Amino acid sequence: MSISRRAFLAAAGFTTVSAGTALLSGCGSSKTSVTGESGAPSSLEVFSWWTEGGEANALSSLVSEFHLHNPNITFINRSVAGGAGANAKAELARRMKAGNPPDTFQGQAGAMLDDYVDAGQLEDLGFLYQQQGWDRSVNSTLLQLTQRNGKHWSVPLDIHHINVIWANKHLCDRLKVPTAPTSVADFVAALRKVAAAGKVPLAIGTTPDQNWQVKHLMECLLVAELGPAVWPTLWQRGGDWTGQPVTQALVALKEILALTANQTAALTWDQASAMVGRGDAAYQIMGDWTEASFTLAGLIAHKDYDWAPAPGTSGTFLFASDCFTLPKGAKDRDAAIAWLIECGSQNGQDSFTAAKGAIPPRALIGGTERGLFDTYSLWSMDQWTSTRIVGSLTHGVVARAAWNAAIDAAITAFVTDRNPARLQTALAAAAHTYAA
Ligand code: GAL
Repeated sequence: MSISRRAFLAAAGFTTVSAGTALLSGCGSSKTSVTGESGAPSSLEVFSWWTEGGEANALSSLVSEFHLHNPNITFINRSVAGGAGANAKAELARRMKAGNPPDTFQGQAGAMLDDYVDAGQLEDLGFLYQQQGWDRSVNSTLLQLTQRNGKHWSVPLDIHHINVIWANKHLCDRLKVPTAPTSVADFVAALRKVAAAGKVPLAIGTTPDQNWQVKHLMECLLVAELGPAVWPTLWQRGGDWTGQPVTQALVALKEILALTANQTAALTWDQASAMVGRGDAAYQIMGDWTEASFTLAGLIAHKDYDWAPAPGTSGTFLFASDCFTLPKGAKDRDAAIAWLIECGSQNGQDSFTAAKGAIPPRALIGGTERGLFDTYSLWSMDQWTSTRIVGSLTHGVVARAAWNAAIDAAITAFVTDRNPARLQTALAAAAHTYAA
């Protein structure tokens, strides 16, 4: 019999944020001592940026599953607050440079790990892939992304859907705007209508510490204008950043921000989700970690809120995948390996992804297993197998750190000067410098 995700979480004891955070503190470090029957006691320092409600809850769920198999390992939560790793990525880079790696850290499959791989700071995980049979069981897109120079450098834990629009259904129905605007033009028309009714059209943080949310919106608009065949070419040498489709996307970005951002500038992503959840704002364009926060808030899918591919991106699945690594010099290598095995296992992935709004990265998801997931995740699973899959910029797949930093600087300038032509020039210059 299938059980719903809510029931699954309830059974695991994680129905509320406070239940989740009782185990793991939101920021900094906390320890959960576990006394078990077998194995020598050891500890495991896990670095991530999962501190918000739905994220911390999903991490707690994974830690509980991990402790079932590793009761003697003390979990040390070294999470650093800040959506999309806004602060964690810099802190991680500092630690790695100082030769003080955590036992394992949250990375993102794809270019986000390239600097660490090239600097020789990670262990090749080929031995684990072989031992655990992951070469056969992991989805082929992910299997490719975990490799560089023919070796595996990370274990994928989830697949997140990036190009999703979330809508408050009550508000949209009342204002007679669609919950799923299909084109960018329809979306802008709906935003205007919501603004005219005195409500916040789009919840989005735009202050410099939150400008990854603008980058997230920008990449959805670029995918809408360019389509899934051209988007990946932007990340290769010779990609066309100067053409009309990029111009159109950036002009739309300006138009959309003009309609909304001054009302919501300082919001974190989860505060923005909460605004939509409460009906204080109509829309948010955000990854599907928003689904987890809506579930925690007790909202009902299709009744209180709805989702759809971000405007203009139907038929495309813009994705990211959180993964874990084995840094060379990890103080507790055996405990880190036990964690990686959990991340690659069916139970580990199910416990985490079902609570995170994500889907598991394994190739085959059984019928019974599907019963653990809610209607949103089932939709996302179907999209994963029926649409064109392309990698995310904001969430680590297509561009390495230095390129992302150049784009971040261009976006920060744009939020102040609102000049799409200048932004396009800066983006083209960054591609010229960094495309390999
Ligand atoms: C993404 C990450 C997700 C989620 C999100 C918001 O980069 O892949 O797991 O945590 O940031 O913080």
